Amino acid sequence: MTLEVKAAQEAGPLQSVLHPAGQDAAVIGQFAWVLFIAAAVIFVAVMALLVLSLRQHARPPRAGLWIAGAGIAFPVVVLTALLGWSTWRSVELRPQGSNHALAISATARMWWWEVRYRDPASGTEFATANEIHVPVGQAVYLGLNAADVIHSLWVPALAGKRDMIPGRVTGLTLRADKPGIYRGQCAEYCGIQHARMALHVVAHAPAEFEAWLASQARPAAQLTGTLAERGRAAFLDQRCQTCHTIRGVTEGTPDHASAGLGPDLTHVGGRMQIGAGTLRNHRGTLAEWIADPQASKRGVFMPAAAGIDDASLQSLAAWLEALK
Ligand code: CUA
Repeated sequence: MTLEVKAAQEAGPLQSVLHPAGQDAAVIGQFAWVLFIAAAVIFVAVMALLVLSLRQHARPPRAGLWIAGAGIAFPVVVLTALLGWSTWRSVELRPQGSNHALAISATARMWWWEVRYRDPASGTEFATANEIHVPVGQAVYLGLNAADVIHSLWVPALAGKRDMIPGRVTGLTLRADKPGIYRGQCAEYCGIQHARMALHVVAHAPAEFEAWLASQARPAAQLTGTLAERGRAAFLDQRCQTCHTIRGVTEGTPDHASAGLGPDLTHVGGRMQIGAGTLRNHRGTLAEWIADPQASKRGVFMPAAAGIDDASLQSLAAWLEALK
């Protein structure tokens, strides 16, 4: 993570419609302000008229004109103007100039995000989780799907919401105009841990994005040393490969299913958080999570590591942390 991205993260609120950092979000933010200000002005005017009418006991002069003017003509004119304006502005929200060369798809699962990339340079396809990395200044098209129930992707600083529906591919165009980390969240109730289904969009300068893509496309680092070897053995002993893929490690191992029930962990150490925004990612939280995922995220489908001794648990966490 560069200093530039870190500075951008510290500069602004993580998740806000009112601080847009992308084209679509700017249009949506403008809608929010115009509707709020118009509604506030009208509310204050109506309250003022109400106070006046309560203090005046006689029937006001030209009452019929007031009813026709303020009760019928004014709302028709104002609402028609707002409808026309918002329809005209909405045209800008349609996908345009999408970068289809860069294929990114996101699949929502209870309760995390699988994100798949195809590196155009090498043609390698890879999966990551809970982070969508994009190049700054380019419209990126995301293909969206869901594996179980309906979820919804919402990164308020960058774009509007888009539902993710099992068996149906929808799409969303994102464009981040400044480097930074933008928090997003599942915006459709999807079960007990709906609230802990967050993700981050990380917007990099183009060259930095290319470097990220190339490093992610590579298989996991072949780490040596007692800690790494012990960690790797603990991973296989615990049959973590039944649900998790680590490219370069899990291929051909017993019970390995590439169905991806759990996040791909090839470069898990490089992610900011674990449990879809539940815990900061470091070896302490990794050990905590592996030993008892229910303690941090009740209802999560990952089982606790069974009968693991503390040394193996610490080695496993240290090895995963080192898989950058
Ligand atoms: Cu996924 Cu709410």
